[in-house]
Amino acid sequence: MKYAVIGSAGQLGRALCPLLPGDVIPLVRQQADLEKPTELKSVLETIRPDVVVNCSAYNLVDRAETEPEAAFAVNAWGVRALALACRSLDATLVHFSTDYVFGLDTTRRTPWKESDAPGPASAYGLSKLTGEYWARQICPKHFVIRTCGLYGSRGTGGKGGNFVETMLRVAGEGKPLRVVDDQRCTPSYVGDVAAAVIPVIATDHYGLYHLTNSGSCSWYEFAREIFQQAGLQPSLTPIPSRDYPTPARRPAYSVLARDHADAVGLPPMRSWQEGLAEYLRVRRIL
Ligand SMILES: NC(=O)c1ccc[n+]([C@@H]2O[C@H](COP(=O)([O-])OP(=O)(O)OC[C@H]3O[C@@H](n4cnc5c(N)ncnc54)[C@H](OP(=O)(O)O)[C@@H]3O)[C@@H](O)[C@H]2O)c1
Repeated sequence: MKYAVIGSAGQLGRALCPLLPGDVIPLVRQQADLEKPTELKSVLETIRPDVVVNCSAYNLVDRAETEPEAAFAVNAWGVRALALACRSLDATLVHFSTDYVFGLDTTRRTPWKESDAPGPASAYGLSKLTGEYWARQICPKHFVIRTCGLYGSRGTGGKGGNFVETMLRVAGEGKPLRVVDDQRCTPSYVGDVAAAVIPVIATDHYGLYHLTNSGSCSWYEFAREIFQQAGLQPSLTPIPSRDYPTPARRPAYSVLARDHADAVGLPPMRSWQEGLAEYLRVRRIL
């Protein structure tokens, strides 16, 4: 089995490449750019992969509000070009999406299923949702995998860090922290998500999946757990989102239910607390 991995230098790409069982061709943006459809197709025609894994994305959630074209160029039109190339090569497309396809409904407080109608509250979420639909509509052999709040080694390429690292850095500087307590989701260790992807894509049960660590927390509760596990006691205060305004609106509740993974008999993922402990162990804090 031959895999081409686009966006292989990102957090998820770096975690996934070593786990893929077969011949893995990691591709960085200079080799396979979603904004250059002709070159992208020709690179894939040369490699002739059985599976194309798309770990690339435009991830600048706030900036996307003022430059939605840039987000759509990668997350929507780029995914369309990739899906067309995969279909013409009869390759399977593995594509990643986000809990931010939800958020327009501000009243929901039960986990979102794959079968629930999405409704993004941001330009980023809308660009990712459009990409999902292109992948699902164009490429018959597709796995579209929504995940949430990823943190992994060296952080996101686009954002240059991750929430855990930011919390530890600010606490290390002795500064007080104020963290939102009214946005609830499931922060997920990228190593756990990558490991969970492997058995999914080994099946031929194509479709849409939700894969995150289990359980849920607010970002304040996540920060509290980070400090508890790291043995730190900074000044940490819960605040409402209105006290931390951002250009893009985030979902108040975007916990994802994993009905599809359960239906095909895939093992449950460990809790977000255990995922965090593993991340901290790997980065040798504990
Ligand atoms: N991070 C999260 O919290 C989160 C949450 C939910 C879902 N997701 C989804 O999970 C997936 C992986 O995210 P991640 O956190 O691993 O992102 P990441 O660390 O920011 O990595 C994204 C990668 O995409 C590459 N890229 C950007 N534009 C590209 C283009 N036009 N052509 C080819 N490559 C391009 C980047 O390369 P450069 O370094 O050259 O820019 C980077 O290596 C994405 O689909 C994302 O939407 C992420």
